[in-house]
Amino acid sequence: MVMSSSQIVIFNDTHGWHSEQLVSALQKLNITAVLSDLADCTIDLDQPTGLVIPGFENTLPDAVIVRGIAPGSLEQITLRMDILHTLAELNVPVFNPATAIEHTVDKARTSLRLHLAGLNTPKTWSTENKSLARKIAQAQFEKGATLVIKPLFGCMGKGIEKITTLKQFDSIQAVGDAFYMQEYIEPFEQGHWQDWRLMVIDNKVCAAMSRRSQHWITNFAQGAECFPTTVSEEMEQLAIKATQAVQADYAGVDLIRNQGGSYTVLEVNSVPAWKGLFQATGINAATHLAQALARRITSSQLNSHDNAQY
Ligand SMILES: Nc1ncnc2c1ncn2[C@@H]1O[C@H](COP(=O)(O)OP(=O)(O)OP(=O)(O)O)[C@@H](O)[C@H]1O
Ligand SMILES: [Mg+2]
Repeated sequence: MVMSSSQIVIFNDTHGWHSEQLVSALQKLNITAVLSDLADCTIDLDQPTGLVIPGFENTLPDAVIVRGIAPGSLEQITLRMDILHTLAELNVPVFNPATAIEHTVDKARTSLRLHLAGLNTPKTWSTENKSLARKIAQAQFEKGATLVIKPLFGCMGKGIEKITTLKQFDSIQAVGDAFYMQEYIEPFEQGHWQDWRLMVIDNKVCAAMSRRSQHWITNFAQGAECFPTTVSEEMEQLAIKATQAVQADYAGVDLIRNQGGSYTVLEVNSVPAWKGLFQATGINAATHLAQALARRITSSQLNSHDNAQY
């Protein structure tokens, strides 16, 4: 499929099962993957590209897959994002591009993107002003709403609280002094909490599972069980549009169903894991991801060939 044998880079701070799956899926398509870490790249204006990527000293990779960005200082993260932005500006296909990562790494940005795209997502308020956050919470409680407070940078259901009173609000120390509050969506079936994870790659849903729990937080890491599931056209379309709304080439989209029976987008993950999805469904997203990347490499090679002629 790819014109000549290609070499790509997979970025992560620690490579494991996902990188291995990608390496072998890519190998079948005649694509070699070098495992690297964004933190080990250098910006060097002595280079025509301005970049030095380990393993690609005098050249650039044919494509990039970002599988993880380690936590770091604002400065470290800025440098890593500079590298991803620049690679995309140099017409290297980057899965997912820095823009998509920025759109999904903080929950407020994702909520805004989904809202502005006109997609169903829970009502959300986010501010760093505590007294403003308190007033918003008070107004919601007066209407009988339950709120969910989450850290802006979420992680596996940790640090999420459900609150119904101002006393509870006052006892919460918002992570980084940033408030992210969302209306609590009562489950479709009382006492049966579940959400759906749909893996979207290149505008198609390649696999889906549901996570069910006795508890309202349905993360696998919080003890939820995963089941293979079929999904409706409505769910597929919502997940595909959510992925487009954050400008991601692939994403793990989480949907929940409200009491009225309609689906709402809870979150879009632009660096999704798929081991749980693989265990539940037998579908390995790595195969689909490798194929999508191969298509992108081919079209970017064709483009640069066209450009070279004129
Ligand atoms: N507004 C809400 N209404 C009902 N349930 C919610 C709501 N927000 C979160 N939940 C439950 O909590 C779980 C975790 O929430 P969320 O996905 O927003 O954060 P996270 O998983 O910690 O973040 P990340 O997935 O980015 O690591 C959801 O899967 C869902 O089960
Ligand atoms: Mg989540």
